[in-house]
Amino acid sequence: MLKKAILSGHKSMNRLDLANDIAQRILSALSKFYESDKRIKIRTAHISGVSYENIGDSGLIFLRDISEKGKFSVHTTINPMGADVYNNTFNLNEQFIKKQKEIAKAYLRMGAIESFTCTPYDYFLVPEKGNHVAWAESSAVVYGNSFLELYTNKESALSALASAILGEAIYSDMHIEENRRCSLSYKYEEKINELILGLLAYHVGKKAEKPFNIKLGRELSSLEKKSLAAALGSIGNVAVFKINDEGNVDRKVYEVLKKDLEKEYMELNTSEDGEIIVLGCPHWNHNEIFNFLKEMNGRSFKKDCIIACCKKAYENTIKIYDRKLLDKKRIYFFKGACPIFSPLLKELGVSKVITNSVKAAHYYKYRGIRVNLKELKDIIKTESE
Ligand code: F3S
Repeated sequence: MLKKAILSGHKSMNRLDLANDIAQRILSALSKFYESDKRIKIRTAHISGVSYENIGDSGLIFLRDISEKGKFSVHTTINPMGADVYNNTFNLNEQFIKKQKEIAKAYLRMGAIESFTCTPYDYFLVPEKGNHVAWAESSAVVYGNSFLELYTNKESALSALASAILGEAIYSDMHIEENRRCSLSYKYEEKINELILGLLAYHVGKKAEKPFNIKLGRELSSLEKKSLAAALGSIGNVAVFKINDEGNVDRKVYEVLKKDLEKEYMELNTSEDGEIIVLGCPHWNHNEIFNFLKEMNGRSFKKDCIIACCKKAYENTIKIYDRKLLDKKRIYFFKGACPIFSPLLKELGVSKVITNSVKAAHYYKYRGIRVNLKELKDIIKTESE
């Protein structure tokens, strides 16, 4: 429906009007889906559909056209690319890099911030809680709704683009307070870490249809919050949850058991080893990288370890840590890029990876890559010396 709306543009319009018209058509089509004509002003937008691996030539042509005059009217961040175009460390196909650069250029021309990250809340403008935004990228949506108390639906690449141009989103679903109330609760009483939390969100996300609360024994680290949000975003439709919310004491509490998570683990852990290590799904910030390097305690990896992060996180890291020394330890960075929606592994000839990310494991499975899923501490212990 959206494609049809876009393609039937008016030939007589100038390009600025045409960009706005396309954006209006996208939101109108979405209005029909949500059965709501009401719109709400947004403070920021975050757009997915940046990797050339995902959008291909048709996406590139569309962006090239719309960016000739289209301009974003609010603070707009954008998702990672399919390759590190700043420094092609892994020698990815030059043609891919060229097309990826063109996509990046089109978004920047429209006024996007040079963010190229799936964690726009780490370095870029985050409105105060209670503000409405239009974010695509499911992990960021769940994180924003749940931990930052922002109000956003799970936008698609196109609807987030339209909202970024118009500065408004359809007033529906997660923008409406009553739709965000948790009507059920889960509890997990065993030991937790970033992997277990990912598996927990993955398990609950398969069952829950509505926002829920999870009772956990302690506060979570930033990495654990990201893991939870990303795993939930990758499965099911729930876009907001709460942790240890005492709000509604009457709601039914379901207990998740260790064996429930073992079942999820068996589904996602498809290999007993891996050829390389992929970390940073979702992107790590420099504090998370620092913590990881401290945990390494001078050890070196026995195989290459690739960390996905935004350019800013990388720059902050190499201000403190010597880049050459990190190279020696076989720690590399995939800046402004996503190692999952990328030709990276194919071009490296890798078919088995080690990661601590449930979201990465979920998508690698669909891309024919086998995964050895383990907690970060275990990765350091078993894969370095
Ligand atoms: Fe980010 Fe790519 Fe993972 S966009 S959340 S690194 S799948």
